[in-house]
Amino acid sequence: MPVSFSTFERLKDKGVAAYKTGDYAAAKSYLAQAAEAMIELAESAPTEKLRKQHESLARELLEMAKSCDQRKSAARPARAKEDDDRSSDANDWVIREKPGITFNDIAGLDDVKQEIRLKMIYPFSHPDLATHYGVNVGGGVLLYGPPGTGKTMIARAVAGEIEATMFVVSPAQILSKWVGEAEQNIKKLFDAAKAEPRAIIFIDEIEALVPRRRDSHSTVMTRVVPQILQELEGFDRKAQRSLLFMGATNEPWALDPAVMRPGRFDAKIHVPLPDEPARYRLLEIYLAKRPLADEVNLAALVALLDGFSGADIKAVAERAATIPFLSAVGGGEQRAITLSDVNAAIEQVGRSVQKADLAKYDAFATAN
Ligand SMILES: Nc1ncnc2c1ncn2[C@@H]1O[C@H](COP(=O)(O)OP(=O)(O)OP(=O)(O)O)[C@@H](O)[C@H]1O
Ligand SMILES: [Mg+2]
Repeated sequence: MPVSFSTFERLKDKGVAAYKTGDYAAAKSYLAQAAEAMIELAESAPTEKLRKQHESLARELLEMAKSCDQRKSAARPARAKEDDDRSSDANDWVIREKPGITFNDIAGLDDVKQEIRLKMIYPFSHPDLATHYGVNVGGGVLLYGPPGTGKTMIARAVAGEIEATMFVVSPAQILSKWVGEAEQNIKKLFDAAKAEPRAIIFIDEIEALVPRRRDSHSTVMTRVVPQILQELEGFDRKAQRSLLFMGATNEPWALDPAVMRPGRFDAKIHVPLPDEPARYRLLEIYLAKRPLADEVNLAALVALLDGFSGADIKAVAERAATIPFLSAVGGGEQRAITLSDVNAAIEQVGRSVQKADLAKYDAFATAN
C-alpha cells in the first residue's frame, strides 16, 4: 500500500520530538522511517519539481538520523551545551566552496552580467572609485527566471570572479537541520560569512524559505523570516563590502513582499531563456566540443532550439552524444554525432518551460 503523507508527518513529528528531548536512539529510528516514507512519496510525486523537493527533504532527514549517533556520543553531561553549539556550527550544514567558474563560462545573458558587474563586482575590484563616486555597495541580488536558465551557475560565477568563498544554503537544509534553533543558526551563517575576507551567501530556491508570511503556518517560518530580514538589514547598514547576499528563485511572486523592499534585495535581476546568440554559444560549449559530423550546422540548430533553456540545450547535447556512444559500446563503428542524432535528441528533450509560464515572468519583471 502506498505510504500516505500523514504517515510521513507522524513519523517526522515523533522523530523531531525525540531529537529535541535528546532521545537520539528513538529519534534516529523515526527519522530514518520518515526519510523512507518521503522517498516513497517522491517516487509517486506528480511533478518533477515536487519529486526533487521530496528527495532533498528525504536526504536531509537521513542526515539528521545519521547525526543522532554523533549527538549520542557527544552528549557528555558537563559539556553538553558546548558540544551542542559545536555540532550546529555552520560548517555542518552549509556547503562552503570556492567556485572555479567565471562569467566566461556562461553563455549569453550580457545584460544580466553587466548589471551584476555594476552592483557586485566593480565595487569590489575598484573600492576607491566606488567611494569616490558614492556608488552603493551591499544589499542583495535576487536572480529570478524560468528553471535551467543558469541562475545557480551565475551565483557561482560571481564568487569565482571576485574569488570569494561561497556559502550555499538550501531551504530544505535550513528547515530540517535547524529544528528549534533556526535563529542561532542563521546568525552563525552570517557570522561565518563575515569572518571570510570575501564571501557570498547564496540561498537557492529562496521562495521555499521566505514565503509570504500570511501563507505560512509553520512556526519555523514565522521565526526565520524576521531573522533573515534583520541580518540583511544589519549588514547593509554596516556597508559590509566583503559580504554579498544572493538568492535565486523561479517563483519570485511567491516571496514575502518584505524581503523585496529596498535595502534587502535591491537588485532583482530577470534571467530569461537564452536568445539566439546565447543559444549559439550554448551549442558551442556543450555540443561542438564533442565529435560532430560536418553536416551539423550550429546556426541552423539555433532556430530549432527557440524556447529551450540552457539546461535543455545541455541535455540535448548530452542525449545526442549518447546515441553514437551506445552504438560504439555495443561494437558499432566509432562515428561522429550526426544531424539525425541531434534531431532525435531535440525531440526527446523538448522544452521544459511553458509559454504560459514565460508570460508570468515577464509580468513580474514589468511590475518590479
Ligand atoms: N547561460 C548558460 N550558460 C552555460 N550553461 C548554462 C546556461 N544556462 C544553463 N546552463 C547549464 O544548465 C545547467 C542548469 O543551470 P542552473 O542550475 O544554473 O539553472 P537555474 O536557473 O539555477 O535553474 P533552476 O531554476 O531550476 O534552479 C547548468 O549547470 C549549466 O550546465
Ligand atoms: Mg538553480
